Amino acid sequence: MNWTPSSWREFPIKQQPIYNDKEALKRVEEELSSYPPLIFAGEARTLKEKLAKVGRGEAFLLQGGDCAESFADFNTPNIKNFFKLMLQMNMVMMYSTGKPVVKVGRIAGQFAKPRSSDFEEVNGVKLPSYRGDIINSVEFTEEARVPNPYNMIRAYNQSAATQNLLRAFSRGGFADLNKVHQWNLDFIQDNELGKKYQELSHKIDNAVKFMSACGLNSTEVPQLHQTTIFTSHEALLLNYEEALTKPDSEVDNKFYDCSAHMLWIGDRTRDLTEAHIEYFRGISNPIGCKVGPTMQEDELIELIDALNPNNEEGRLNLIVRMGADKIQEFFPKLLKRVRDEGRNVVWSCDPMHGNVEKSSTGYKTRDFENILSEVEQFFTIHKEMGTVAGGIHLEMTGNDVTECTGSASCAITADDLSSRYHTQCDPRLNASQALELSFMIGEMINNQ
Ligand code: PEP
Ligand code: CO
Repeated sequence: MNWTPSSWREFPIKQQPIYNDKEALKRVEEELSSYPPLIFAGEARTLKEKLAKVGRGEAFLLQGGDCAESFADFNTPNIKNFFKLMLQMNMVMMYSTGKPVVKVGRIAGQFAKPRSSDFEEVNGVKLPSYRGDIINSVEFTEEARVPNPYNMIRAYNQSAATQNLLRAFSRGGFADLNKVHQWNLDFIQDNELGKKYQELSHKIDNAVKFMSACGLNSTEVPQLHQTTIFTSHEALLLNYEEALTKPDSEVDNKFYDCSAHMLWIGDRTRDLTEAHIEYFRGISNPIGCKVGPTMQEDELIELIDALNPNNEEGRLNLIVRMGADKIQEFFPKLLKRVRDEGRNVVWSCDPMHGNVEKSSTGYKTRDFENILSEVEQFFTIHKEMGTVAGGIHLEMTGNDVTECTGSASCAITADDLSSRYHTQCDPRLNASQALELSFMIGEMINNQ
């Protein structure tokens, strides 16, 4: 069937807002489609090539960021701390494994959220659920929960400014290998983990000095001076994505979703007969799809047929999110089938979304032990199957929040959660927990 950027509209769709003012929605869509793209198709192709390497085990994918970005938390320190954390994790994993790390942020567009219920009830008052700042507002009032199409314009502008700062940090010298020490975040510096990172920075310093003595310095070798962080988000709100979908007139007129380098489909909207699969099959970006415990073997093969009919390497990232207590039961059979059918996919592990629990103090949280356990099982299953554990997908922040319990470096308890529980949606690893995990993942990659 013919595909167009709007052909998804002919299909059933889940998890969408109902806009009351259809005229306003149309105006916003038209306005957005006249705006410049946030990324360039050539960059999406570069990411696809890098992900092809990940699929072959020649590189590792680090994808992470907020569960949901918000208008209220849009400021320089948040972006800068996230950037520093990505660089630190990158260094830790690259140094211990000797493999390049492909860095993809859940950033500059991660605004729309699927929800488990259409309504939220507090003390007998029932209101429509919050669906992310690109749709409505988190405050628990009737007015705040009305979907506002103009939020799409604000999300676009925030994404553009965020992308701009990421590009500036990446290219402007901040990511120079001579600055490895400076990426350490203040609140980590003094603990054991901070010291471990400092030791690693000393080793990198020595390596950089040695290379410089050989004549390889950051003036000669730009790779030592700059980096690339690609952007990604869940393409849930297709009105927004469609407006930013453009043909690549420079090369082959294929369509790219220019709202981010990579887009993914959530676990709740991956139905084969519905709108999100229709939209995704027509865009040429590298794409992802979440794979939860309800995914069936045949269904997964059909999904791969729909999204990657040419078996292109680097095109499709399957993001496994089963839960520590389910991955052993549900993942190996899917992996075996995809392996036996010779499908090229990038497998990555999201150890966040299957491990949500309610703390004894009433907070939605995740425990570090469960997160670690799911990642370990993911690696072990791949090793047994002779396949490649390609990457990790995390909800994390560069800030010192208390949202997930546990870890050796900060040992957050259920009682600590109330101290700095700032997330707009799901609980994130704080910088210390994320860095600790990256040291462990480095070892797992080496044991593969
Ligand atoms: C998410 O990544 O924030 C998310 C909602 O994940 P999933 O679709 O896997 O539940
Ligand atoms: Co989430």
